[in-house]
Amino acid sequence: MCGIVGYIGDKTAKEVIIKGLKRLEYRGYDSAGISTITSDGINTTKTKGKVSKLESAIQKDDHQGGVGIGHTRWATHGAPSDKNAHPHSDASGKFTLVHNGIIENYTVLKQLLADNQIHCETDTDTEVLVQFIGYLYEREKLSFADTVRLALTEVVGAYGIVVLCADEPDTIIAARLGSPLLLGIGENEYFVASDSSPIIEYTRNIVFLDEGEMAIIQPDLYKVINIKENLIVPKDVEEIKYNLEEIEKGGYDHFMLKEINEQAVTIAEAIRGRVNAENNQVMLGGIYDWVQQILDANHIIITACGTSWHASLIGSYILEELLQVPVKVEYASEFRYRETAVNGDTVVICVSQSGETADTLAAIKKAKEKGALTLGIVNAVGSSIARETHCGVYIHAGPEIGVASTKAFTAQVTIFNLIGLLLSEKKGVDAAVLNPIITDLIRLPDLITRVLHDGNSIIPLTEDFMNVGNFLYLGRGYQFPVALEGALKLKEISYIHAEGYPAAEMKHGPIALIDEDMPVVFIVTEKGYDKIVSNIQEVKARGGKIIIITSETNKELENFSDHIIQVPKVNHCLQPILTTIPLQLLAYHMAVLKGCDVDMPRNLAKSVTVE
Ligand code: AGP
Repeated sequence: MCGIVGYIGDKTAKEVIIKGLKRLEYRGYDSAGISTITSDGINTTKTKGKVSKLESAIQKDDHQGGVGIGHTRWATHGAPSDKNAHPHSDASGKFTLVHNGIIENYTVLKQLLADNQIHCETDTDTEVLVQFIGYLYEREKLSFADTVRLALTEVVGAYGIVVLCADEPDTIIAARLGSPLLLGIGENEYFVASDSSPIIEYTRNIVFLDEGEMAIIQPDLYKVINIKENLIVPKDVEEIKYNLEEIEKGGYDHFMLKEINEQAVTIAEAIRGRVNAENNQVMLGGIYDWVQQILDANHIIITACGTSWHASLIGSYILEELLQVPVKVEYASEFRYRETAVNGDTVVICVSQSGETADTLAAIKKAKEKGALTLGIVNAVGSSIARETHCGVYIHAGPEIGVASTKAFTAQVTIFNLIGLLLSEKKGVDAAVLNPIITDLIRLPDLITRVLHDGNSIIPLTEDFMNVGNFLYLGRGYQFPVALEGALKLKEISYIHAEGYPAAEMKHGPIALIDEDMPVVFIVTEKGYDKIVSNIQEVKARGGKIIIITSETNKELENFSDHIIQVPKVNHCLQPILTTIPLQLLAYHMAVLKGCDVDMPRNLAKSVTVE
């Protein structure tokens, strides 16, 4: 997704902005640009390609001012090009603007501009917005802030914008509706960014802009107004909790490898302070007051996208098994538009690492409108989804920079176990059912360390299969979502097509694909063991190459497999956490072997904040 950085203060804005854009590269982008402003006017440089290319395009004496904005663009309207890169300026050259989101009524505004002889030069909706601001400024003769506010009252769509005006060079204006923006509060200096990563090295004090708010920022003060009412909004200053090194690679070649290797720590963090080993009790403060309402619900829906949807599928198995209530999993993009039977007796759980996924956020808003209780399982503290839900549980995985989600997935599954344990204990489920899960939960960090210790053993496997065109991942029960997740990991960073299926479904179609060029990954645990062994033999009989992930207690499957990876055996509700890690490593090493951009795979964004 697009990334935004703005700065006003005594530093050279260019340095803060370029460094900030590099911290936002993980969000995925295809072009970058910067505008700075002095009393001489606005100076803009923008290019297709990486931030490093933008940096080399900037002339030594350019951009010396202390006020500026920068942008990394993930193309929505208009192909990636120098021309379509942000910032965009109006015809007069008095305004320059960066934008994350989509202006849905841009064609109407574009026609209004054309009727007034103002013609856009680019294919972007963003240029229409800044041209509209320039048009209103000339027509209404209002101040910079009043003009931007007036323009935004006419806009339909989603935006996070930061704007400069040559007539008021000591002011920057930021506004958000649907795309996150936060302010960094320094000593007589202020920062604006899409997330806290460009800000943390300068200040931990941040203010989250909420929906429909606009910030007017000058070197010695800022104020936040509600765009519609034009009234000042008092805002709390919050503190960034994580440390700078958590958003750096720490000696690893890629963020993804670092985050895979962090999972023993991140699972320990997900559990820390939430499990009392003495009395086997689970405490989750973020939902404690809502437990009875959740237990009284006659319908639980879990909604998410991508990897978070896979974690949600495992979560639905856990909650249904422990609580014996129906649990449904919905893709957020489907749920938000479908006529659903959601009402005051429904609980809607939404899962999101970034807390900014547009479809998931929209799904929650729809659930709330229909009277449901909404519960968030989120990683990014203070994110839109975390703020929108009635209650929730943070997964405490720390910033996840790699586009391919890894540590967030295992933490999400851990949180579903904790929620299932808390709710079923309150429901009176026998401790004999719950205690084994708790016992294994406490062991999990050490067991993950063991799995990671053998991580490099997967590299020869990748070398055998780096030139294949397709992979099939098969699993049963709790391992079916693991098959889906393993397939997603491989395809999104190595660009090899991969599909996950319930193992038994193989005979309903996919078996037609089996030949000596089709590696099949089987994730095998106790549930349905004999049946999946039959599936393995069916593949073997047709010349398929077989990769097996199974528990270390299994001694017989070695005879059926071309490669076998064994992980410690734990309670089945937790087993997906251990069986997924080798598949994360398989995808990672395959992508490295193929020379792919592991942390920023093509066409992908870390957080899909537009639908
Ligand atoms: C997973 O590796 C992908 N990055 C993607 O599927 C991701 O899980 C999805 O976009 C949901 O993101 P969220 O968890 O931040 O909502």
